[in-house]
Amino acid sequence: SRDAAGGGDPRNFVEKMKAGKKRIVIFYGSQTGTAEEYAIRLAKEAKSRFGLASLVCDPEEYDFDNLDQIPEDSCAIFVVATYGEGEPTDNSVQLLQNLSDDSFAFSNGDHKLEGLKYVVFGLGNRTYEHYNAMARKVDACLEAAGGKRIGERGEGDDDKSMEEDYLEWKEGMWKAFAEDMGVEEGVGSETPDFAVTELSSHAPEKVYLGELSARALTKVRGIHDAKNPFAAPITKAYELFSAGGDRNCVHVELNIEGSGITYQHGDHLGVWPSNPEVEVDRLLWVLGLGEKERREQVIGIESLDPALAKVPFPVPTTYETVLRHYIDISAVAGRQILGVLAKYAPTPEAEARLRQLTQDKEEFHEVVALGCLKLGEVLQLAAGNDLRAVPNGENTTAWKIPFDIVVSSIPRLQPRYYSISSSPKMYPGVVHITAVVLKYESESTKLPKKWVYGVGTNFLLNLKYAVNNETANVPLVTEAGSSEPASIAFPTYAIEGPRGSYLQDTIYKIPVHVRRSTFRLPTNPKSPVIMVGPGTGVAPFRGFVQERVALAKRTIDKNGPEGLAEWGRMTLFYGCRKATEDYLYRDEWPEYQAVLGDKLSLQVAFSRDGARKPDGSKIYVQDLIWDDRARIADEILVKKGYVYICGDAKNMSKAVEEVLARILGEAKGGSAEVEGAQEVKLLKERSRLLLDVWS
Ligand code: FAD
Ligand code: 2AM
Repeated sequence: SRDAAGGGDPRNFVEKMKAGKKRIVIFYGSQTGTAEEYAIRLAKEAKSRFGLASLVCDPEEYDFDNLDQIPEDSCAIFVVATYGEGEPTDNSVQLLQNLSDDSFAFSNGDHKLEGLKYVVFGLGNRTYEHYNAMARKVDACLEAAGGKRIGERGEGDDDKSMEEDYLEWKEGMWKAFAEDMGVEEGVGSETPDFAVTELSSHAPEKVYLGELSARALTKVRGIHDAKNPFAAPITKAYELFSAGGDRNCVHVELNIEGSGITYQHGDHLGVWPSNPEVEVDRLLWVLGLGEKERREQVIGIESLDPALAKVPFPVPTTYETVLRHYIDISAVAGRQILGVLAKYAPTPEAEARLRQLTQDKEEFHEVVALGCLKLGEVLQLAAGNDLRAVPNGENTTAWKIPFDIVVSSIPRLQPRYYSISSSPKMYPGVVHITAVVLKYESESTKLPKKWVYGVGTNFLLNLKYAVNNETANVPLVTEAGSSEPASIAFPTYAIEGPRGSYLQDTIYKIPVHVRRSTFRLPTNPKSPVIMVGPGTGVAPFRGFVQERVALAKRTIDKNGPEGLAEWGRMTLFYGCRKATEDYLYRDEWPEYQAVLGDKLSLQVAFSRDGARKPDGSKIYVQDLIWDDRARIADEILVKKGYVYICGDAKNMSKAVEEVLARILGEAKGGSAEVEGAQEVKLLKERSRLLLDVWS
């Protein structure tokens, strides 16, 4: 819980507001922590602009039946993310239900929230159909119950412009806020959130060196979840793409026996990475903390206002641990953070350069966003350092940024989610994931091209090298856009080392937790199942097929092969570039087919293997689905089958939904746009068309 102040009923936020003299309550609906970050930023800004204190709340921890008792001079802010298919985040399910409840709605003519001042900012993603549905619902409910919104509803697009959407929205909102709340700008103060102390005496076994939960060292036992990940031993890790190519896809198997963690086919695994060493070093030198005794200095961190900001990771710890394990120093730097840091520049020139970058939106986009510059890199650039050099004390200028500012302005490093690619029925106590390694070129025209490496997937790749003793064979990387060897050839991670590294007791371990999903096979095997998953979208379907194989084996043992006679067919539409290059689990599918026989049909679209459509364009999964339309229509409309789509949210899943609409529209004797779209909608409503997609 974020709030420490206030006695009485811990679920009564109005009481807490009054006890803490807070005129603002901020609720965040957050799945991965981003909405929470924005909530905290709004709280801080209310403080620094108007001197107003806020109560920042996880809605799960409060009751809402007293929402109508918020004092007249106060307001409620809702920062809510929309998740999946227009759903609320786990922690705001109850909030939405309460708001949509009759007790607040005006259906009975009773405007119970009459005059309640509120603010809404939504976090969504335009790639998905129900863009910012949650924010819109919250807004509509509050309005219907008589609330009065301050300013416009804000909507951020995580696909493109979240930060810019937020920055633009908040200016207008704060203006309206000042007017509606009757407060004046400029009376606030910039108070630090945290106090950082360097500790001289401490018990080494009590210092956190990468453990993600305070429980890790206090040895308090508890369930393993997102707040307390389990360090799972890697039992196997191998490359799935063919050797010699420059792309990687890693298969990792993790032992969860004895952890109390269970999973189902279709669930997600949260994987907690660390930052690559080059970025840890870079920022340490930029902060003037690069020397060994400085980076290993033990520090304590205390929150100066626990209701506003809790220390986001376990302490005491060390400077380098914070940068390596706890905060996200690898993301592309944000414009607002940089604005805050300008005043700590080492020289007036560096300050001017940084200010110019943050004030000129277009320049910022061209250099920082397209150049994919991380925070440390932007500060190096502003100070005139060479970005291509391996950072050290000589080539990196130290800034005078206090460490409490680092802690309060850089968000926590978040887990990456992977669709579990195994079935617990086939692999009890073991979880498999399938991760394609992210590596792309920056696109700024003002800077030399560079490689950008995905944090989590390159972390997994490094672990795969370590587990198999392959570190000597790491491929030589050339500079992006040239054939010269790169100065920073390949991002390495602190895989091996003291406590806090990923090698413990001679076993490599990764912190993980399981997130439940609704992406599941129908319980009755008689229902046909259509699975569409090109690329790593095939991951959960490997689990689905394994699930059915395990069930089939049991059924055959009991009733002989006839036991499967009535089973519906599973069809997997898979797509990859070339049969010899990136065909995932190519050798496994025949094994599954040997058990399931004609109850498993595999159809593969090779997009770069020669064959093309008559018009010369590539063959994708949606083309194979169209070719098979008679059977697909029959399985969906007559046999009441289930359809699953997994993988790319941006193009593939939309194209597949379109082809389904065409097929179903035609089968119904109508059009894709009307009858087809209607059928697709119905399938979704009845949970017979399920999506597990990401962008
Ligand atoms: P990060 O360091 O997090 O970088 C990713 C960011 O880089 C993107 O957000 C984007 O801003 C940027 N970016 C990416 N490509 C480009 C580009 N070409 N140009 C410019 N910017 C770019 N992945 C799998 O491999 N297998 C799975 O089974 C899987 N399942 C998933 C299930 C769910 C529910 C979700 C939400 C995601 C899933 N993912 C899966 C994706 C996975 O969670 C990570 O996002 C992915 O592995 C990249 O993580 P990373 O840490 O390596 O990259
Ligand atoms: P491509 O890269 O050759 O265009 C896994 O990434 C497979 O999905 C690849 O064969 C890829 O083809 C293909 N793919 C790319 N865009 C797609 C889309 N819009 N719909 C379906 N498949 C697509």
